[in-house]
Amino acid sequence: MSLSRSRAVAVEDQNRPLVTSRILKMEVLAPFASVPRSTLYTIAPFILIALVLSLIRAYTTWNYYRRMRQINGAPGKPGKTIPPPQIPYTLPYLGNALSFLNTQPGAYWQKLFSWHPRSSGACTLLLGGKKTHIVFTPHIVQAIFKNKTMKRDVFEHELFQKVFSLPDEQIANAEAGKHHEHEMNAAYLTKFDRVNELTETFTRVLDRVLSKDAEEIVKMESIGLYDWLRDRMFTASTTALLGEEILKMYPEYCEDFFGFDQEFLGFFFDLPNIMMRDAIARRNRILTKLQKWSKAMHDRSGGSPIDPEGPAWEPLFGSRLNRARQLDYKIRNLNARSAAAFDLGITFGLSSNVIPATNWMLLHIINPKGDPTLYKRVMAEILKAQNPDGSIHTPTLIALPLLQSIWTETLRLYTDVLVTRNLSEDVKLPLDENGKTFIEMKKGDNVFAPSYIGHHDPEAWSGQDNPSEEFWAERFLSPDPADPSREIFSITGVNGKFYPFGGGRTICPGRVFAKQEALGALAMVLLRFEFEFLGFVDKGGKATDDFVKPGSNFPGSGALMPGGDMKVKVSRRQRLN
Ligand code: HEM
Ligand SMILES: *[C@@H]1O[C@H](CO)[C@@H](O)[C@H](O)[C@H]1NC(C)=O
Ligand SMILES: *[C@@H]1O[C@H](CO)[C@@H](O)[C@H](O)[C@H]1NC(C)=O
Repeated sequence: MSLSRSRAVAVEDQNRPLVTSRILKMEVLAPFASVPRSTLYTIAPFILIALVLSLIRAYTTWNYYRRMRQINGAPGKPGKTIPPPQIPYTLPYLGNALSFLNTQPGAYWQKLFSWHPRSSGACTLLLGGKKTHIVFTPHIVQAIFKNKTMKRDVFEHELFQKVFSLPDEQIANAEAGKHHEHEMNAAYLTKFDRVNELTETFTRVLDRVLSKDAEEIVKMESIGLYDWLRDRMFTASTTALLGEEILKMYPEYCEDFFGFDQEFLGFFFDLPNIMMRDAIARRNRILTKLQKWSKAMHDRSGGSPIDPEGPAWEPLFGSRLNRARQLDYKIRNLNARSAAAFDLGITFGLSSNVIPATNWMLLHIINPKGDPTLYKRVMAEILKAQNPDGSIHTPTLIALPLLQSIWTETLRLYTDVLVTRNLSEDVKLPLDENGKTFIEMKKGDNVFAPSYIGHHDPEAWSGQDNPSEEFWAERFLSPDPADPSREIFSITGVNGKFYPFGGGRTICPGRVFAKQEALGALAMVLLRFEFEFLGFVDKGGKATDDFVKPGSNFPGSGALMPGGDMKVKVSRRQRLN
């Protein structure tokens, strides 16, 4: 009932502009009778274009409502199969691309679901000539994750081609050896012992960096929290992964990397070259510097990195994972520039998400305008994970309920992931668990599962007066059934609605390390320093009363970059216990 009502409202909303434009056109065209011929010839093409565009809009709108009637109509025979409704558009080829590329996080989806019902399960966008199905009910999203034959190689190809501009022959080599990456990640990134080694090096370097800060940064009157944390975490994680020479040879890597991080989807989405000039220069600079670094490290290592099965870490090439990758570039016949592109790629996996995510946690914990009890409760929890010598016991830390809830809530609210698949066969997927209606997608089409839609579904997340759009530190806590006076972390019933790390065969191999790194950095920073709040600033550095909001981010950019910062005065904390 409420559904058909909202549909009726949507019909009106959609049609009104059309009807008015029709009337407008009659009114606008009538006076042309008295216009001189020559003027008419000049404006005729424009009128024609306007007419064609109106026709496209009218046709796609009509088609949309036809599909929606099929989806909502009398429950057809079991097995009813329907293509997802195509969202109306005006421009041929570009289709919905311009509005989809809105860089205000979630804006496109919020607008879409203000009139298009979520119950349709899926819809279709035309993006630069490509039919792209957007799937958003948990049932369909999970079916996409479970399907092991669906791949995303079209997008990987575009990454090599458009973002890294690798020559075809190098792309072919990279693609032929893709499975090596899965093998290396399995051996050196996801395994329990390997994760712990990485965390250990990360912690050691971060501790050293923060010790220096305890002498220097505390003398400053004011620092930007994100600016500071971003630099320190980048230093520690890059050193852990790639060794300690890289930042000596290329101290601006952090700055350049985050510039690239913000720009690179522009390559992917085919923004015109004139808009990408700075991005092209930056990418080329990064690749040149990384090539120089790799050459120097190879020379100093006697031609080849130390065996990945050797020490957990060494200064020149760093981790086992990186040493294995450097050896593998040769096996895959990747040249020096392609190898540098892959080094940039792994830096991206390493730093692009976990650093902003840790920042959002810290911002919320010390936000003077948030829950005034949160900071104390977090500190009390972190102390439980502190060893007698002041260091942190990671297994205890990552099992703390409030901390886990904050981590999960941060990923829910601040990641925007597009899980992508390309279809090599027609696929029929059941719309929901009763399996009466199927949606059908055709061979050659693309499928996107945008995490933003599930992560922000008001029905899924609004509990206890805590709307889905608000940060709620306790969202994933519930009373322990064994002892109701205690709270435990629980994340049940979120399948297909919460997937910050993607899902299925392409799920992020760094997710365990990410959690250890993020909570470890958070605990180390909070145990060592106190923060006096000085104020918020916006993107341009101007003071503002409002808590930091996400900045402009392309859709699917992963953890959202903040569009502003919190100014703080840092001082050394007296030892707590
Ligand atoms: C909050 C932190 C992180 C988030 C939200 C995140 C998220 C993601 C997502 C969404 C993907 C793509 C999954 C897909 O397409 O289905 C991915 C891939 C990947 N991530 Fe992460 N990630 C994080 C941290 C890390 C860390 C710390 C590493 C460590 C090296 C890492 C390494 C990778 C790699 C290597 C891939 C590519 C895997 C492949 O090619 O199949 N990630 N990540
Ligand atoms: C998985 O996807 C392929 C297309 O890539 C399709 O042919 C197949 O039927 C799907 N399998 C299931 C179980 O839905
Ligand atoms: C798309 O995906 C399938 C696997 O689902 C793969 O075999 C095919 O080569 C991919 N690429 C293109 C261009 O369709």
